[in-house]
Order: sequence, then C-alpha cells, then structure tokens
Amino acid sequence: MQFKTPVLGLFLIVLFGCSDSENLNVNTQIIPEPQTLITIEGLYSMASQPKIYFDEGFKIAGGFLLDYINGEKTVEEKENAAIRFLTDHTIKNPEAYKLEINEQGVTIKSNSDHGAFYAVQSLRQLLPVDFESGQFEKEIKLPFVNIEDAPAFEYRGMHLDVSRHFYSVTEIKKYIDAMAMLKLNKFHWHLTDDQGWRLEIKKYPKLQQVASKRDKTLLGHYSDQPHQFDEQVYGGFYTQEEAKEVVAYAQSKFITVIPEIELPGHSQAAVAAYPYLGCGNPEVNVATKWGVFETIYCTKEETFKFLADVMDEVIEVFPSQYIHIGGDEAPKSRWKSCEDCQNRIKTEALAGEEELQSYFVSRIESYLNKKGRQIIGWDEILEGGLAPNATVMSWRGFEGGLEAAKAGHQVIMSPNSNCYFDYYQSENESEPIAIGGFLPLQKVFEFNPIPEELKGNEDDFIIGGQANVWTEYMASWDKVEYMVFPRILAMSEALWSAKADRNYDKFLTKIEPYFQRLDQLDINYANHLFDIKDSIYFHENNTIIKLHTEANNKKIRYTIDGSIPTIKSELYIDSITVKGSKVINAIAFSGEETIGNLYTKTFNAHKAQGKPISLSVEPHKAYNTGGKQALNNGVAGSNTRYGDKEWLGFFGDDVSVTIDLKQTTAVTELKTRCFNGNGQWIYLPKSIEVTLDSGQSFTQKISPNSNTKAEDIVMPLSGNTRFLKIKITNFGEIPVGSQGEGSRAWLFLDELTVN
Ligand code: ACM
Ligand code: ZN
Repeated sequence: MQFKTPVLGLFLIVLFGCSDSENLNVNTQIIPEPQTLITIEGLYSMASQPKIYFDEGFKIAGGFLLDYINGEKTVEEKENAAIRFLTDHTIKNPEAYKLEINEQGVTIKSNSDHGAFYAVQSLRQLLPVDFESGQFEKEIKLPFVNIEDAPAFEYRGMHLDVSRHFYSVTEIKKYIDAMAMLKLNKFHWHLTDDQGWRLEIKKYPKLQQVASKRDKTLLGHYSDQPHQFDEQVYGGFYTQEEAKEVVAYAQSKFITVIPEIELPGHSQAAVAAYPYLGCGNPEVNVATKWGVFETIYCTKEETFKFLADVMDEVIEVFPSQYIHIGGDEAPKSRWKSCEDCQNRIKTEALAGEEELQSYFVSRIESYLNKKGRQIIGWDEILEGGLAPNATVMSWRGFEGGLEAAKAGHQVIMSPNSNCYFDYYQSENESEPIAIGGFLPLQKVFEFNPIPEELKGNEDDFIIGGQANVWTEYMASWDKVEYMVFPRILAMSEALWSAKADRNYDKFLTKIEPYFQRLDQLDINYANHLFDIKDSIYFHENNTIIKLHTEANNKKIRYTIDGSIPTIKSELYIDSITVKGSKVINAIAFSGEETIGNLYTKTFNAHKAQGKPISLSVEPHKAYNTGGKQALNNGVAGSNTRYGDKEWLGFFGDDVSVTIDLKQTTAVTELKTRCFNGNGQWIYLPKSIEVTLDSGQSFTQKISPNSNTKAEDIVMPLSGNTRFLKIKITNFGEIPVGSQGEGSRAWLFLDELTVN
C-alpha cells in the first residue's frame, strides 16, 4: 500500500481493500498523547512471533517488547525484521523517540534505550489489547503512523504513602509497571510517618521492632465522633534487600525511586521507638489515628546523629540523586517549651522556631550534599529560609513553588487542587470513603505545573509535577488502584503531553478503550464516565437543568416526581425546565440497561433563588467549582463533604454577599449552612449580619463547637427589601493546640435560602 495524504486525527477507520472487503477498525489512541501523531492510510500486517532487531544499546526496550509480543530476537536481519530499533543521534532528549509504521514494518528511533522504551509503550497501545494478558493473535494489523514524541517535563512523579497503610513488594511492582506504561519516571516512596516506619535501618532495630507497628487503627472517617478503633496490631516494613529489589525493578523500567524520610515532623513512630529523639524524652505510641502530631524530632545533637546514621543506610539502598526529607506539617509547640531547642535557638542566633526548622533542614541538606545527594522538601521548608540547594515540592497550592522558582530553586508542582488522589473523584454520596476534597478527572487533566504568573525563564526551574497518594483511607491495594485509576491517566497527559494537540473531550474518548487494558492487567479503577453531571440556569421563575455524562452515546432518562427512572421514563433531550421545588432523578442507559450511578438532586425554590448575587471576595480557587451562583441555586451541598460544587470555601476572609431580589419583597428568614471541621482548619463563622434596604440589621452570633459536619444557621428577619446585604465574619486565627494553630481559619458556605 502506498502512502497517501497524511491525516492528523484521533483514530483512523481504514476501509481495507482486501478480497473479502472486510472493514477493519484500527485505532491510534495513545495515552499520554504523543507530541505529534500522524496517521496514514494503510496497514502493516505482522505475523505472530515477529522478528525484532535490536542491539545491546536497546537491551531494555527490545527485551520488554520481545516478552510483550512473544517475538523472536534477531541481531543480523535489520532489513527483514518486522520491528527494528535504530540509534538516531539527531534526537537529543534521551526520553524522546520516533515510531514509524509503514509497509516496511515498525521502526523505532531514539538515541537511548529510555526513549526506545517509551516508543514500545506507545506501540503497545496500537496492538490488540489481548496482548496485555499474553493472548497473542496470529496476524496483527498495525496502522501506518508517524509519531514523534518527547515529554513536556523531565520530572513526572507518582507518590505512594506506605506508612498509613502498607503494601507488598508485589503490589509496589504493579504500581511501577503502571507508571512505566504511562511514561511516568519518578516514584516517590513515602516510607516514614507517625503511623509507621517502613524501611529497615540496621543500626536502629527498634525502628523494625517498635516503629513499624501500631496497636490499632482508626475506623471510619476521622470526622466520625467519637473515634473508634479496630483493636488489631497493624504493621510491616521493607527489608533493605526488598527495597533494593524495588529500586532495581524500577530502574529496569526507567523509573527512579525517591525515598522520603520525614523530618522534623511526622516522626512520632521514630520517637515511639527511641524516645530520646523527642523533646524531653516523651513516652508516645506509634500513632493510631490520622492527622498532624505535636511530637516531632528534638533539635538536640543526638537527633542529628540518628538521622545521619539513617541517611547513611538510605543512600546505600537508594542511588537516587534526590532524597525527600519531608518538612511539612511540623507543629513547633514542643520546641517552644524544650530547653534543648531553646538553647539551640540561642547558640545558633536564630530568630525563633521557624528558623530552627530551617536550621534543621539545612543541616540535613548539608550532610546529604556532602554525600553527593540533593534534597527535596515540601513547601513548608520555605518558612524560616530555604536550604541553599533544596528542591521544593509545592503541595499547599502553586504559591510555594512560585516563590521557590523566583528564588532560583528547582520546583516540583504537586498542588492539592490538582494532584491529591486521596480526594474524592465523584460527588456521588455512594463514593467510597476518602479524606475529603474533590478532584475529578478533568481537574487532573487540566493541571499545568507552570503557572501563568511566571516570567522570563523562571519556568525553567519547574522541573515537573507529581500526584500524591496518601493512604489513610486506602486499607487495601484494590482501594489504592481505585483512587489512582483513571486519574493517573490524566496526570500522565498533564506531565508528558502538555505540548501535544490535546483536549479533554479527546482524552475522554481514549478512556473507555483504556479500561479494557486495565481489565486485562487486573487493575481496579473508578468509572465515573457514566455519572450524570449538571449545569443549572434560571430564566424568569424557571429552573433550567442541563445534564450530561462524560462518555458519549449514552442516553439519559429522568423523572421529576421522585421516582427512580426506568426505560419508560422521559428521555433527556437538551434541558429540563422546572418551576418550584422538585426532585430530579436521572440515570444513563446503554441500550435497555442502566449504567453508572443514579443522579438525584433536590431543587428548593426560595425568594433569592437564581437572583443576581455578588461577593466581596472570591472564594479560594480550590473551592469555587460552582461559582457564586452555588449560593442561591436552590441546591444544598453534601452534609459531610465540603468539596462539592455547592460549597464555597474562603481562606481566612470575611465575606459580604449582596443579593438583588429584583423587587421589594417581604422577607421573614435567612437559612444557611456553614461547614465545621476543625481538624481540617474549617471553623464556623463568628457571626452573620443581614442588612435590609431600610438600614435595619439583624445579627446572629455563632458559638464554636467541635462537630465535623454542616451546621444549619437560621435567622429570623422581618421587613421589606430589594437588596439583602449579608456579612459573614470569619472565625479568625486558629487557637493554639488545634490543627493549623496560628493560621487563619477556612470558612465554608452553602445555600443562602431566603424566605
Ligand atoms: C502533605 O500533603 N502534607 C505534604
Ligand atoms: Zn527539643
């Protein structure tokens, strides 16, 4: 077959001119999207057990393909081989590659085994999906393509917390396999935390005997009160041999393992094993519940001796240039009342505890630098002064990363707004328990590690991004996979394909087929493609609801009388218009069968519903999914999750809301809800004040409490008004002894119902 006009596109339906006039559907869908992918009309027919030509320079990539495709290696027949690997020195980036399929077969070009390995991962997706489980087909038809590909970012990371829950070496290897398939190249292994120390350190046997085990584990969600426990000892650690095995395995897939040894905070497990490491030799247990703990390493000399010994063994096991030293969430209360720590502040002429943290991190950095290693720390390491050569991993937002990049430090962006895979991925109440937040697939896909604010070449300091998988609520490997897939597909697109021709709709068309691959690989995943999402509008006194699913070609049926939709229910066409209070139920159908979850939403009509609304301050970007209209669209947010699109979150601000009722109206009541969750830094406001046109105002003071849930606030009003001015006063500074002490409190606001 001859080359014809190249067509850029998603997939090519080739009308194959063979004798039986068979229509062959061949797809060229690849995740992550290659930088350029040109499909050309034509198919290459490859016999089973194809000959593959490669030399020693492509040992890993060639070897992987040989196994994957059940091929036969040849070192002589470059011309006759079905697949050939060729060195191309014109390709400069060692991770880049070219992949050409034409009538001569498959040609992979790269200047390194690494780039060729990624070519193989792309080729893998052009082959029948059955190959994933070793079911080899006799004759394979491959589409003619011309691919030129290279990553947008050099650091493409996945993190995994093995302290909160522990996973076997086999499971870790499965994680690494999936990362490699998606061209991710850094595995950040979070090995130590308050709830368990998971790496063997030979010089300190109590890290194995004591710090690796906890007596029991919190049941349910942290916010469920009172706390209940399972009363079972839980533990585990990796021997150094096992960790080395993981490192070697990852290396064979071009993945670097970056160990994290947390300091000075998140260290209660180590202090439980060796109390002298804490301020005043505290008697503590390995933590049995989640959160941030006051017990952290003391800054006395013995701690540095311990950490130097630990690091000596860590660098023996992990050849990575980077060692992650944590640095996040270290409360300073113990340091404030510790003689050793206060002496350290004096003798080192430090301004206070913030600088003491900086001193701590800088000492560890200097030790590791002398051994030829570099540190990465969470963005708190900026506080009190950044260690001279540190790389910053920005998790509380982009701001820390921005500050570090501007100061000329390397940055890995991992903001919780786009990268926290422990957050809920669906607003559906049936979603399995997660820590909180809301991170749907699209938000991961839209992650851009380079914020627009950066100027000149400041963006050169942003070396990439990473998704974090904190495992408080992932007691099984199945659950880890459920939280990671398919969001990891979106992350791989964000980090590899930023320069490619990609958009979310195109990405969605690739996911359903990719699920077949995950099925073959026995990987669990969340499927929200068939969940129904809505947008809500108002016109005159009507509510107009638009529904859609992310997957195409699915029909939606709905009811407005509270009944469960069936195949006989109304078919959704382009919108639903309702008047007054109604419950809408809807579900997607594939043929006669329902698929996905039931959508159910209650619309409560009230006097302010859908009326013009303005806010004195913008909600925080991470909690503004629904926009200001969410405050008067007639829909209440979840009782237990403040991350959905009905809740708006404000960080530290007082908020004034003005609602225009469009005509003078008698008002008798304002009802609203605020979220309370002090463990998550969320507090009820101090007060709410409502002012009418007449200048008359009504004030309600609100007493704090320690519940974690949405709290109803009802205020009687009386008068006639067109405008309602509602002032909500933030709680203020978080008290000493509470999570987030000294920080401003979050305020979360739901529907402002006016009767
Ligand atoms: C973090 O999530 N505490 C880094
Ligand atoms: Zn101390």
